[in-house]
Amino acid sequence: MILLSWSHARVPVYGLGCLEVHVPIEIREERPDDVAAVRDLNRRAFGQDQEGNIVDALRANGAVLLFLVATLNDRVVGHIVYSPLSISRNITVAALGPMAVLPECQRQGIGGKLIEAGNQKLKDAGCPFIIVVGHADYYPRFGFKPASGHGIKCEWDVPDDVFMLLVLDRAKMKAVSGLARYRHEFSSVS
Ligand SMILES: CC(C)(COP(=O)(O)OP(=O)(O)OC[C@H]1O[C@@H](n2cnc3c(N)ncnc32)[C@H](O)[C@@H]1OP(=O)(O)O)[C@@H](O)C(=O)NCCC(=O)NCCS
Repeated sequence: MILLSWSHARVPVYGLGCLEVHVPIEIREERPDDVAAVRDLNRRAFGQDQEGNIVDALRANGAVLLFLVATLNDRVVGHIVYSPLSISRNITVAALGPMAVLPECQRQGIGGKLIEAGNQKLKDAGCPFIIVVGHADYYPRFGFKPASGHGIKCEWDVPDDVFMLLVLDRAKMKAVSGLARYRHEFSSVS
């Protein structure tokens, strides 16, 4: 499925420098021919290869619940990955990340569109909640709150405010608490 959304973007216009215009951002599922562009965008957004290597390992091991890319004029400019995260013994929910937007395309709402589209797809699929370890000033604007408020702890030693949760189904969420464990790729890939 393709989601079209209009967004501000700074586009070079011959003779006029960069102009702010409205351009269509397309959000769609990742395709095999996006792999190299996704690797390159991770390297540029994070300034290192580790996150791209984790993404590659998750994909190769079939550990991706949802993988969306954002394109601008058919160029991949952002992506978001959700992988399975287990809590207690039998419960699997979604972990958001890594996600990235090309440096020159940041602060134009592309990251937000990826998060909103991905979260909605997981909600539609019946996922009870989503976990993220990330910027404490960014994810709360999409409804994420510290997971500690729900009795859910992170397997890693991270500050309370960066380990966040978004409830998608309050009823299913009620009985869940315990230690959240990420896929092994997050710890084993460097
Ligand atoms: C985080 C990221 C995906 C956001 O993408 P984006 O397209 O710029 O996001 P949006 O345009 O929807 O939102 C922009 C907001 O994100 C905020 N933001 C970006 N990076 C942030 C950070 N490190 N900490 C806190 N807020 C951040 C900006 O302050 C901006 O807010 P403002 O417009 O109110 O000033 C992008 O900045 C990025 O790729 N960063 C490098 C990789 C990374 O940190 N990924 C996330 C961790 S997995």
